[in-house]
Amino acid sequence: MPLLHAPALHVHHVSVRFGEAEVLSDVSFDLDAGEFLAIVGPNGAGKSTLIKVALDLVTPLTGHAALFGEDAGRHPERVGYVPQLKTFDRTFPATVLELVVSGLRRSWPAWVRAAERDAARAALAQVGAEKLATRTLPKLSGGELQRAFLARALVRRPSLVLLDEPATGVDFLAEHDLYDLLERYQAVGGATVAMITHDLAAARYHASRVAVLNRRLHGFGTPDDVLCESCLKKAFGHLRHAHGIAV
Ligand SMILES: Nc1ncnc2c1ncn2[C@@H]1O[C@H](COP(=O)(O)OP(=O)(O)O)[C@@H](O)[C@H]1O
Ligand SMILES: [Mg+2]
Repeated sequence: MPLLHAPALHVHHVSVRFGEAEVLSDVSFDLDAGEFLAIVGPNGAGKSTLIKVALDLVTPLTGHAALFGEDAGRHPERVGYVPQLKTFDRTFPATVLELVVSGLRRSWPAWVRAAERDAARAALAQVGAEKLATRTLPKLSGGELQRAFLARALVRRPSLVLLDEPATGVDFLAEHDLYDLLERYQAVGGATVAMITHDLAAARYHASRVAVLNRRLHGFGTPDDVLCESCLKKAFGHLRHAHGIAV
């Protein structure tokens, strides 16, 4: 039974191990519906793994994740996911429309039905990319590919959108557009957003909640509470300076 007013994302004492390595250690937090969460932390901190637990792609050793009061993986249609694009094979010979339709079906379409084409075109229009529909993926710029994946994540109008470093490799203007777009999507449907980012300044400006992660959760709260010198020092050590991040 879905719980009334359950958090959009409930992470409960989650620990994950890959072989000998403990990648997440006893991570717990609740993200309320309608919030915009930025997940920050150094490389290898377990950020992508945490999102995969929420998507039920990784099973934790202990603990569990729940979305809107139900087990992770129970309602895939309620979750939109933008994977880390640097791991995507850019030579994949599909069109943008097919990519977006794959978000409706969770598989590659051999042919596209009229209703699916309409839904995909509407999702592309929502991210300002209707002109990309017939383009093939290898011909897209980084920013265009990002919009295509965002349309794929939004095509089923999910209540929760999870994004893994969507701004990496995109120029500043496009990154600004991306935040604008997500905020507009939230404003219309009251959706919840959780985004992994390296950009602490953007997290401070756009997020309503920030999770500072480095295997353990070093802070969870408002940007003002959590993006403080001592929290970041614990999680990032000297890495923060290597990122050239201003907070
Ligand atoms: N499927 C996997 N098998 C083994 N090790 C993994 C796997 N996925 C991630 N790791 C390791 O877990 C650690 C955390 O990875 P990840 O969650 O991708 O960190 P982040 O996204 O914060 O950079 C890294 O050391 C990574 O090499
Ligand atoms: Mg990652």
